[in-house]
Amino acid sequence: MKSKWMKKLLSVMIIGTAVLGLAACSGGTDTEEPAETQTEESTEVQAEAEDTDAAQEPDAEEATDAAEGEGGALVAYFSWSGNTEAVAQEIQSQTGADLFEIVPAEPYTDDYDELLDIAQEEQSSDARPAIAETVDLSAYDTVYLGFPNWWGDMPMIMYTFLDEYDLSGKTIAPFNTSGGSGFSGSLDTIAEMEPEAEITEGLSLGSSEAEDCADTVSGWLNSIGLAG
Ligand SMILES: Cc1cc2nc3c(=O)[nH]c(=O)nc-3n(C[C@H](O)[C@H](O)[C@H](O)COP(=O)(O)O)c2cc1C
Repeated sequence: MKSKWMKKLLSVMIIGTAVLGLAACSGGTDTEEPAETQTEESTEVQAEAEDTDAAQEPDAEEATDAAEGEGGALVAYFSWSGNTEAVAQEIQSQTGADLFEIVPAEPYTDDYDELLDIAQEEQSSDARPAIAETVDLSAYDTVYLGFPNWWGDMPMIMYTFLDEYDLSGKTIAPFNTSGGSGFSGSLDTIAEMEPEAEITEGLSLGSSEAEDCADTVSGWLNSIGLAG
């Protein structure tokens, strides 16, 4: 009997000690965790701030460039299968603007199905695919900005472009091609990313309309007051 009772008492004491110990541990964790998290967070914030600083360096230069714009126009576009490129070339031919193709530093696959997955992955990871070449925007007041609709948005390389270049003080004339989704939310995104730019009405064409788009392009250029 006695031994049973003692065993019980012992187990109560052991459990009690364990519970106290656990409470102490968890108390310690509670006080330490936020401190650790804060340290990590502040490191992240600092790293982000550094990144942002680095990213803003060219922007600062470009802001000066924008102020020095000489009235020129540039058609800057990304195109994977040629539809947006056809529209870009038509705009170029009607306006005499310069042409800059936004080419990925690491070329995309030629396989459509693979590309669908890659584009989706880039979008969900908020990727910024590098652009192969840079362009000096100082001579341009107007930038015609073209891209296909990928998964209801701009391809992520367009985000890279808008991150890297400050279009403050310039006019952005957006155009796109799509399988039917039009711009989706991309006009709002451009406005958010380039808050100091003036953004015209956009031109959105279906994939099959891109090859024969002279009339549509001239109508659009007239309506936004940029006809050549
Ligand atoms: C990865 C990928 C995603 C696409 N997502 C959409 C979409 O969400 N909505 C849409 O209407 N079209 C979508 N399309 C079709 C393209 O927008 C359309 O074919 C466009 O004209 C292609 O332009 P490009 O020839 O200049 O690359 C997608 C095409 C690809 C390759």
